[in-house]
Amino acid sequence: MTDFEGLKALVTGGASGIGRAAAELLAARGAEVAVLDLDPSSVEKPLVGYRADVTDDTSVREAVAAAVAELGGLDILVNNAGIGAQGTVEDNDDDQWHRVFDVNVVGMVRVARAALPHLRNSAHAAIVNTCSIAATAGLPQRALYSATKGAVYSLTLAMAADHLREGVRVNCVNPGTADTPWVGRLLDAAPDPAAERAALEARQPSGRLVSAAEVAGAIAYLASPLSGATTGTSLAVDGGMQGLRLRPVGQ
Ligand SMILES: NC(=O)c1ccc[n+]([C@@H]2O[C@H](COP(=O)([O-])OP(=O)(O)OC[C@H]3O[C@@H](n4cnc5c(N)ncnc54)[C@H](O)[C@@H]3O)[C@@H](O)[C@H]2O)c1
Repeated sequence: MTDFEGLKALVTGGASGIGRAAAELLAARGAEVAVLDLDPSSVEKPLVGYRADVTDDTSVREAVAAAVAELGGLDILVNNAGIGAQGTVEDNDDDQWHRVFDVNVVGMVRVARAALPHLRNSAHAAIVNTCSIAATAGLPQRALYSATKGAVYSLTLAMAADHLREGVRVNCVNPGTADTPWVGRLLDAAPDPAAERAALEARQPSGRLVSAAEVAGAIAYLASPLSGATTGTSLAVDGGMQGLRLRPVGQ
């Protein structure tokens, strides 16, 4: 018997990167897992994929309803789908601000709204939101993205308060730079991908990028019934980036 045996989970953005690693880990630990994604074509058994755009309320409601019907209930929501944005406050126009907030913040609201009636029926209900180090540390060239993740952090606390007495725990993970297809695309677009990767690695005290599996482990920790007393927290998975100040090597 593993901690997720008999539990049903839904992972948004579960076709790639952190979401995929989380969906696979929950399934390996005994959960039945559905994935909601813009493109679920790569999703394989035992995961079940549903196509939905988190910016479209109707498609979210239909996909959540279909997933819950297939799974026979819902205990865990991993609210993970998200997109990036680069630049200072001078660089993104209003449409970009609305677009990234629509995916990263309102998208989580839409999925949570559709999932909560089902989560309330669970004896082990948990929501884990994928937040970011960008919510708690000022990173250059990430004004819009960081604002969305700051909102995800506050939303996590507010949701944890609202739903505690309904038996729904709400927490978030705050990854540092993680080695996912998203970061791969960022590196590919850089003038010198190797130098860009080295700079990102050096920014983390651990000297390396975080793996998607390491973030998935934190998501599973927060989602597990074994963490029944943990709600309204953020768990940093960032190689020490949020809290540590190391001296340069050799000094
Ligand atoms: N990679 C990092 O360094 C890092 C660091 C901190 C936080 N995060 C967060 O982790 C989460 C996942 O990032 P990742 O690196 O695994 O990215 P990824 O691009 O590898 O995967 C994101 C997934 O979300 C899906 N998605 C995007 N927009 C969607 C929409 N509108 N509707 C439904 N699905 C949608 C994509 O199709 C994709 O499968 C994001 O919320 C991101 O902000 C990532």
